[in-house]
Amino acid sequence: MAYHIERIRSEIPALAGGPAFFDSPGGTQLPAPVIEAMVAAMSAPLSNRTTLTEGGRNAERITIEARAAMADLLGAAPERVVFGRSATMLTFDLARTLAFGWAPGDEVVVTRLDHDGNIRPWVIAAERAGATVRFCDFDPESGELTPQHLRKVVTEDTVLVALPGASNLIGTVPDLPALVRIGHEVAAHVHIDAVHLAAHRRVDLAALGADTLTTSPYKLCGPHLGVLTAAPDAIDELRPDKLLPSPDIVPERFELGTLPYELLAGLPAVADWLAGLDDAATGTRSERLDVSLAAAEQHEDALAMQLLEALPDLPGVTNLSRAADRTPTTLLIFDEISAAEVAQQLAGERIQAPAGHFYAWEASHRLGLRDAGGLRIGFAPYNDAAEVERLVRALATATS
Ligand SMILES: Cc1ncc(COP(=O)(O)O)c(C=O)c1O
Repeated sequence: MAYHIERIRSEIPALAGGPAFFDSPGGTQLPAPVIEAMVAAMSAPLSNRTTLTEGGRNAERITIEARAAMADLLGAAPERVVFGRSATMLTFDLARTLAFGWAPGDEVVVTRLDHDGNIRPWVIAAERAGATVRFCDFDPESGELTPQHLRKVVTEDTVLVALPGASNLIGTVPDLPALVRIGHEVAAHVHIDAVHLAAHRRVDLAALGADTLTTSPYKLCGPHLGVLTAAPDAIDELRPDKLLPSPDIVPERFELGTLPYELLAGLPAVADWLAGLDDAATGTRSERLDVSLAAAEQHEDALAMQLLEALPDLPGVTNLSRAADRTPTTLLIFDEISAAEVAQQLAGERIQAPAGHFYAWEASHRLGLRDAGGLRIGFAPYNDAAEVERLVRALATATS
């Protein structure tokens, strides 16, 4: 592994001047090549997609290259990469479209571990269709969501199972292939919210086995966009609301209006940048992503371990991220001070680690944290050990 953190950090302009970003589960900072790719797209002719003009060809090329980049990042087919404003918007759109086929008696399964963006769109769509909503619980002590939890709520009437790829609150990564199989045993559509997962693990839609999956490039050092991808045949028969003259092919059928080409132009640069995180990675972009994302995972896990090892020396701190398999995302609560006050003190030191429930509203309530949530410390490929030392010193001051 050749993970040269100083080289990686030198490519992130936002790190200049010394802020430390532990807020990556909320959004990441942009590498210079990604910014440059977006600026280049805006500096060149750019029109609606067509092969007739230079601007149209640029828009066409940007769209094709952006789909290929997300396909490499998600183990999906480029022709089933759908772009939208956010993962939330795409999930609402997908839920509404799938719900055209739901009726009273059908059952929709959501989990309490998810971000609300993978709960409420399904709940609202189910209620409109007269379908029943079943909530799958998780163990608040261990943070685990197991196949046993899911089996309790999946029945022969289940038409949809929505799963968290990973919890954006406490980091839990469930045994996804096992959970997907439970949904498929009853022929339900299985959707995975991979927004948090894809920021920390190599995602492969085919290996996960899900029908559809959402992610958000802005959690991957990319632009603020949402991406939906699907297994072959999972969305080809769906008929979303669309304008009469807009393309009726997949994926365009699912993309409402003109795409943000300036932002899409950043996606190949993101995939290339992530693929180059490990200087020793060689081969196709997909092969380099295998190596580099594994190296980034190892790097971030080591930083999380550095934090965890320091916690016992801090008075009155409880770590709620406890699942055996989890991302480095660490949720802390404090005996003597609120998480919000700690976040404020850290911000005074230019350390960004926010407090709250982060829209994992059901999970925060199930953990007994109500709306206050906890202090969430997240890691990105560009964090380093010196920043963690700084964070630990600031936590010691805040809790003393
Ligand atoms: C796990 C998870 N799912 C969904 C979302 C929503 O993503 P978007 O902002 O793209 O709608 C987030 C955002 O924080 C998230 O962390």
